[in-house]
Amino acid sequence: TEKTFVMVKPDGVQRGLIGEVVSRFERKGLKLVAAKLMSVSQSLAEQHYAEHKERPFFNDLVSFITSSPVFAMVWEGENAIAIARSMMGKTNPAEAAPGTIRGDYGLSIGMNIIHGSDSPASAEREIALWFGGELLSYERSVDVWLA
Ligand code: GTP
Ligand code: MG
Repeated sequence: TEKTFVMVKPDGVQRGLIGEVVSRFERKGLKLVAAKLMSVSQSLAEQHYAEHKERPFFNDLVSFITSSPVFAMVWEGENAIAIARSMMGKTNPAEAAPGTIRGDYGLSIGMNIIHGSDSPASAEREIALWFGGELLSYERSVDVWLA
């Protein structure tokens, strides 16, 4: 099975959407294996968004993600990376389908509520960066009905 890094960004935390996001992932059948409410340091923000370093909005990204707490998580399950991305919807909430998290709750591309790893390589990198080894491994009786 696959693991993916998902984060409720500062706008989602401030708007009281942590529970909504967690609830959607739980109901989907994914398994929560790590979670923490935390402030993001300048250094962590720059490392997380390293691939966007040359983009004009890089400084805005870093200042936004460090402006207020985030809720960081790791979810596990069959095809977890692609499933989380489809539940999030397109990056720009104006293009995100209703029924997706961004489609249901977002207005602007800068404050689009949630982040999710976009590939196995980025999931591995982001999980190591945000959680190191602090992931849990446990069985749920429902697991046999999910994959
Ligand atoms: P993440 O899951 O957050 O990584 O979103 P994504 O993979 O759908 O988008 P991408 O990695 O391309 O961009 C990372 C984040 O940068 C997005 O979630 C947006 O919040 C922000 N972003 C992307 N494009 C723009 C832009 O043109 N302007 C601004 N202000 N922010 C942008
Ligand atoms: Mg991305």
